[in-house]
Amino acid sequence: MNLTHTITALQGLLGERLTTANAVRDHHSRDTGWHAAAMPDAVAFPRTVGEVQEIVRLCVENDVPMVPYGAGSSMEGHTIPARGGITIDTREMNQILEIRPQDGLAVVQSGVTRKQLNTELRATGLMFSVDPGADASLGGMASTRGSGTMAYRYGTMRDNVLALKVVTPDGKLVKTGSRARKSSTGYDLTHLFVGAEGTLGVITELTVRLHPIPEAISSAVCAFPDAASAVETVIEAVQYGVPMARVEFLDAVAVAGVNAYSKTTMKVAPTLMFEFHGTDAWVAEQAQIVAGIAADHGAEDFVWTADAEERTKLWQARHDLYWATKAIRPGSELYTGDICVPISELAGQIEAARADIEDSFLLGQIIGHVGDGNYHAAYIIQPDDARELAEAERLAERLVERALTVGGTASGEHGIGTGKLKFLRAEHGDAAVDLMKTLKSAIDPKGLMNPGKLGQGG
Ligand code: LAC
Ligand code: ZN
Repeated sequence: MNLTHTITALQGLLGERLTTANAVRDHHSRDTGWHAAAMPDAVAFPRTVGEVQEIVRLCVENDVPMVPYGAGSSMEGHTIPARGGITIDTREMNQILEIRPQDGLAVVQSGVTRKQLNTELRATGLMFSVDPGADASLGGMASTRGSGTMAYRYGTMRDNVLALKVVTPDGKLVKTGSRARKSSTGYDLTHLFVGAEGTLGVITELTVRLHPIPEAISSAVCAFPDAASAVETVIEAVQYGVPMARVEFLDAVAVAGVNAYSKTTMKVAPTLMFEFHGTDAWVAEQAQIVAGIAADHGAEDFVWTADAEERTKLWQARHDLYWATKAIRPGSELYTGDICVPISELAGQIEAARADIEDSFLLGQIIGHVGDGNYHAAYIIQPDDARELAEAERLAERLVERALTVGGTASGEHGIGTGKLKFLRAEHGDAAVDLMKTLKSAIDPKGLMNPGKLGQGG
């Protein structure tokens, strides 16, 4: 590795947009999760595809590792530079290149964030629907195949990315996909890079789908006697075909945390939060159908509102849940599970996960994007306490084992990073993981693109 030479050459290319300053390196040494930090040797802030290509070529020529970086909001250590090298931060690649309302699509540079795009879209009556909570970059969201609270109705990044431009480790710019709604041509390279977690190249541009902002939006909150009743309500609403725009489960620990942090006054009980999209009549009807199902499952009150301010407050509180949970135990980190199962299995899985927490000395909570069969366990730990970390690992392993026995997955939306690498073989089997490694070494023969992660470890 010829690091000094590479950094000097990159300084020549980027000037002050290549930095070795400690504060900047430190900022790029961690993500939002609990994983141990590791510093990059330098951070580059390219603005153009040409600059990204030059950075990649220089790094490959000099055997220097690279880590593509969006907003740093991932949670499984995806962007932690395990082997140092150059972090390629795309935040200055923040141009919205084209909005085509008539085709329902936008073309953006990869550092554009979801809030930035939605602000720009306001006048068009369209929205970008994928909402993981954090103001993540679209390149990062594509790389983790992210989703969040609106995926049941509008899909995940898998469904909302039509086309990509990616700088691969050979320095070429690869174009994948098209502007057409569907296509039958060739290997699906778009979906090879969506979810590749920056191990196969640097995404520089995305073409994404947009959806009409509905005429009417309403939200609802509903407390249940137990978690199973809440989840059974969702299962029935899904089976009935109610196109819920959002449906979120919070256990009692989560609700108490939200009340304390966001000054809400929800009843401390297993709770569902809903959002419905449509016309005035259609959202009222959806709320009515779901209220009926909830009542059959012992729900005490189903409070729904079309008030925009109340709705914004509710979803802001949900989006701040991660920070609310950390605040339950000051100085703590969250060891998270991110299981996704076929929906008919969800109630049993959540109950078993809750029982594990009751039996453990750790404090934990369960929340979920339950329309998708996706739930998170969060164990509240001090990561430098070996006993707590080991217990969180044990609990998280049980979650995954249980999910895999019913045909589920170890991660619904957070991804693999370094944290969930160990589950890859159990989920996919040796032949599939070995094929992932074959693809990785064909595309990145020197193993320099986000090393030690997908395609290498596991
Ligand atoms: C959420 C993130 C942690 O659901 O995925 O809040
Ligand atoms: Zn989530």
